[in-house]
Amino acid sequence: MQNSDSGERTSEAGFDLDQVDRLLTTTRAVRKRLDFDRWVSDELIFECIDLAEQAPTGGNDASRRWVVIRDQDLKDRLGELYAEVGTIFINARGRLDGTGHPKEHIVSSSAYLVENYAKAPALVMLAIWGIHDDSGRPGLFDSAIPSAWSFNLALRSRGLGTAYATMLNNKSDEVAELLGMPPGLTTLVCFPVAYTKGTDFSPAPRRPASEITYFDQWGFTRQRPSDDGTARVADGQGVVAEIDTDARPRAVWDVITDISMPAQFSEEFLGAEWTSDGDPGVGSTFRGRNSIPDVFDWETDCIVTAWDERTAFEWRVTDTENPGAVWRFDLAEQGGGSRLRFSMLIGQENNGTVPMALRDPAKEQRVLNRRRDVLRANMQRVVEGVKAIVDGD
Ligand SMILES: Cc1cc2nc3c(=O)[nH]c(=O)nc-3n(C[C@H](O)[C@H](O)[C@H](O)COP(=O)(O)O)c2cc1C
Repeated sequence: MQNSDSGERTSEAGFDLDQVDRLLTTTRAVRKRLDFDRWVSDELIFECIDLAEQAPTGGNDASRRWVVIRDQDLKDRLGELYAEVGTIFINARGRLDGTGHPKEHIVSSSAYLVENYAKAPALVMLAIWGIHDDSGRPGLFDSAIPSAWSFNLALRSRGLGTAYATMLNNKSDEVAELLGMPPGLTTLVCFPVAYTKGTDFSPAPRRPASEITYFDQWGFTRQRPSDDGTARVADGQGVVAEIDTDARPRAVWDVITDISMPAQFSEEFLGAEWTSDGDPGVGSTFRGRNSIPDVFDWETDCIVTAWDERTAFEWRVTDTENPGAVWRFDLAEQGGGSRLRFSMLIGQENNGTVPMALRDPAKEQRVLNRRRDVLRANMQRVVEGVKAIVDGD
């Protein structure tokens, strides 16, 4: 990357990275800010489809087809079908409005689109030849989705917007009849396309790459990029184990905040006792007991560094500034149940692994990975154990 005198970032390939990054980070689902009163020309739609068609397809098959719906009667019919599926959003809005629920905003926005779908100056349907049969073969959804997203980006770059609206897929027979589509096609998405009211959109909060990218082994994280691609202590090596439960976060929270619970499942952790008084919270302390049978036993002093009811419980070992390890449970609502994420980070000091890893740079990665293999196995047992407790499996 080069920085010009004006502060612009130009990539080695000659792209203005500020502009590219802005496009990639601010192409949002737009619903309430679609301008239904402004006409969108066919010319612009062709332009965006031409750009979208540069996307890859399996086998380079030219199987995608686009249908632009302009006729108001047809749009109204599609709007009615969309609303038949979308009543769930209208009903949910009634329940969530004003509650501050994390889904309040998206539900209200989606319900607005349900009520206004037919007002878009164009509905643009993306279909592909072939029937999606869950066979595992590439070519259908896989070959259409890359271009669907490019279409979104092309729209955004030209001041237009849309939402990736898929609900008509539940009415594919009715849609096919309305649009005169023969059998043998799969429809994917029908975009309401309009200019946006204003062009300022913000990046969305998303998990950083360092938390969801694993190196060489599932669950092996790296806090910082490594210089040579290998695992180094200095880059902050971690482990993640995740599981989905049917139980809601409230039930899972009670289990994961029982500090001795992991001892039922881990082959290394024996149990823990609170060493501070009062209700647990940030700043509370506990002592954990561990054992690698026939090798050694050790205790850890732990300090709670996050305690967000039903969301996050984190503790640091030995020292909050230079922790030997940072351990954390994260909980999120997921599909009516919860997703539990159990993660740990190997600290830079105050633990047994680092001196061993640093003894010989040639063996640093091997030592770190061997330790992480053990940690991952235990953490996996713990999340499976939590699931068994809360779901009663
Ligand atoms: C596969 C898929 C299906 C979606 N279906 C709908 C839909 O039917 N209706 C709708 O209003 N939004 C739909 N969306 C948009 C998402 O709700 C939206 O992308 C998400 O809330 C994140 O918002 P953002 O795109 O602004 O970051 C869909 C998105 C995807 C990727």
